[in-house]
Amino acid sequence: MSARPEPGPGILEIRPYVGGKGGHLPGRVHKLSSNESALGPSPAALEAYARAAATLSVYPDGGYGGLRPAIAERHGLDAGRIVCGAGSDEILAHLAHAYLRPGDEAIHSAHGFTIYRLITLAEGASAIAAPERNLTSDVDAILASVSPLTRIVFIANPNNPTGTYIPGAELRRLHAGLRPDILLVIDAAYGEYVEASDYETGASLVASSENVVMTRTFSKVHALAALRLGWAFCPAHIADVVNRLRLPFNLTTPTIEAGIAALGDVAHVEASLAHNAVWRARITEELSGLGLEVTPSAANFVLAKFPSEPGRTASEADAFLNQRGIYLRRVTDYGLDNHLRMTVASEDANREALAALRAFLAAP
Ligand SMILES: Cc1ncc(COP(=O)(O)O)c(C=O)c1O
Repeated sequence: MSARPEPGPGILEIRPYVGGKGGHLPGRVHKLSSNESALGPSPAALEAYARAAATLSVYPDGGYGGLRPAIAERHGLDAGRIVCGAGSDEILAHLAHAYLRPGDEAIHSAHGFTIYRLITLAEGASAIAAPERNLTSDVDAILASVSPLTRIVFIANPNNPTGTYIPGAELRRLHAGLRPDILLVIDAAYGEYVEASDYETGASLVASSENVVMTRTFSKVHALAALRLGWAFCPAHIADVVNRLRLPFNLTTPTIEAGIAALGDVAHVEASLAHNAVWRARITEELSGLGLEVTPSAANFVLAKFPSEPGRTASEADAFLNQRGIYLRRVTDYGLDNHLRMTVASEDANREALAALRAFLAAP
């Protein structure tokens, strides 16, 4: 017998998630470390949030009021198969809890979003990293990593922190190669930002199969990260499972109302996407011009590899930027020791970050 309560298997292997720096620091800072939106939320979402203050004494609608129909309409999906969560993180965790048992395996790509590993370990299951090719998910490597113990494959498309994506045809090839009892989770948190014509969010794979879920978020293009709002489009039997697991009031009324209003402000989303496209290209070009190795990004951030010579490394660049109130994201927890990830931010923040990097790399 243990002398004190002990957590379940795997839980103490979890290294708690560390978010991007700069969010709550005093003074004038530029935070380009958490892939937040450059333009902020829709004014309509802010108004709806404020209006909801009048209803704070009343429990929220556990079925999310008009939010599911609004998501369904905007994305052309069946509202009955949409579940919402306090961030897409919450839904990912419910999926892991529902479909992984101790000893099972879940696969993620080598530089896949870190949450997949955390939620897998939390179930006493093993997180299997499939090698990537050119910092991009590799369908053949993922399929080669499948074992009789595999229960879930997580794929972020585009992926964070690499910004790379695989085309819809590759997603379908991945699905076709998986046993039907393996759940394929397609995390399209950055799906709105992709411009490539061969990209697919995964919604049609969900609609035509029993073992695919697509997750999305309001934290990125809708700029509501602080409200914690995500959703998933699922086969009916999986929506039913997540609805049993989620707590009854997992979304607040201000969140539901702001979400509905954000979906309605199509012009704001378009402005946000236009800003992202312009600055993503510009940041990519300028960082490449500085001699950094930039990974082509389909999302709202750019990953850059620094030279290995002393005085030019990512860690020294990070310290140099931090002294000037500029915060990019170190990605050592992804095994990318000499890279920094730069979120596409406001024009001011982008210009200042690029100027600081220019000064850093120009120093003798
Ligand atoms: C790939 C990916 N998926 C999911 C999330 C989580 O989003 P949410 O804020 O909806 O929990 C993030 C957040 O950075 C992400 O990068």
